[in-house]
Amino acid sequence: MKIQLTVNGQPHSADVEDRTLLVNLIRDHAQLTGTHVGCDTSQCGACTVHVDGRAVKSCTMLAAQADGADVVTIEGLAKNGKLH
Ligand code: FES
Repeated sequence: MKIQLTVNGQPHSADVEDRTLLVNLIRDHAQLTGTHVGCDTSQCGACTVHVDGRAVKSCTMLAAQADGADVVTIEGLAKNGKLH
């Protein structure tokens, strides 16, 4: 399915399979590798991003569920290499 979302203020559109996880969309499509897959049990939180202002483990959310959402990754929290 075709989805559209905002990642760190930039509009993105992507063709994703139904089973594509949000973390894979962020890493593979948006090329933002600060979001990590650290486990396969949804426990570590290395994949956490903000979706519409709420912290979400992106390995537990389908990319399709983020259609229309405003996503902020760790890169979006950093300014000039520093967190703000
Ligand atoms: Fe470990 Fe998502 S990758 S909680």
